[in-house]
Amino acid sequence: MADCKANIAVFVSGGGTNLQALIDAEKAGIISSGSIKLVVSNIRSAYALERAANAGIRAEHVSKKLLGQEGFEAKVTELLEEEKIDLIVLAGFLCILSSDFTKRYENRIINIHPSLIPSFCGEGFYGLTVHEKALEYGVKVTGATVHFVNEIPDGGKIIAQKAVYIEEGDTPEILQKRVMEQAEWIILPQAAETVCRSIIEKRQES
Ligand code: GRF
Repeated sequence: MADCKANIAVFVSGGGTNLQALIDAEKAGIISSGSIKLVVSNIRSAYALERAANAGIRAEHVSKKLLGQEGFEAKVTELLEEEKIDLIVLAGFLCILSSDFTKRYENRIINIHPSLIPSFCGEGFYGLTVHEKALEYGVKVTGATVHFVNEIPDGGKIIAQKAVYIEEGDTPEILQKRVMEQAEWIILPQAAETVCRSIIEKRQES
């Protein structure tokens, strides 16, 4: 029956609250078409690695600093093949993947971005900066987007979006937290489930 599920790898660089949302969603049955088999971090001290280990998921640190882009992707590919990974979820992963890599996994890599793409996205828009820019601009609504990953930063096809209202007195930190709670932690597991289900359906058709 294990083959009835898509194998998921999650790439992280930081605290891993989105990873936790994915782990919890699998436990709760919100993700029922996929199973998280591997967590990869480019940062050794990322708390996300601990979250993975606590959930009994294989957790690997691969240093891009040490290996360079090519070496990093070669090592990661080895791990993905070992675990027969079908879907890669980028959840707060702060490295750019080469176009060779994204082409190899076309429609098999998704990313969560903390704004409503095409606003406040692209190169340099990550972490708190995204929320700083939204507040600076004065938008009244922001949100989060899950999209497929291609060679253009934040440029792949959109899978899901959820809007979040900006409130009087918001700081980038307050807004970041609200966007996570009201949007990211909800739409990322839902989108992962949608993509896993379509991977399984395609597998059954062939
Ligand atoms: C999230 O805001 C995500 O949208 C962005 O980086 C942050 C990661 O947070 N790409 P966490 O590591 O999942 O807690």
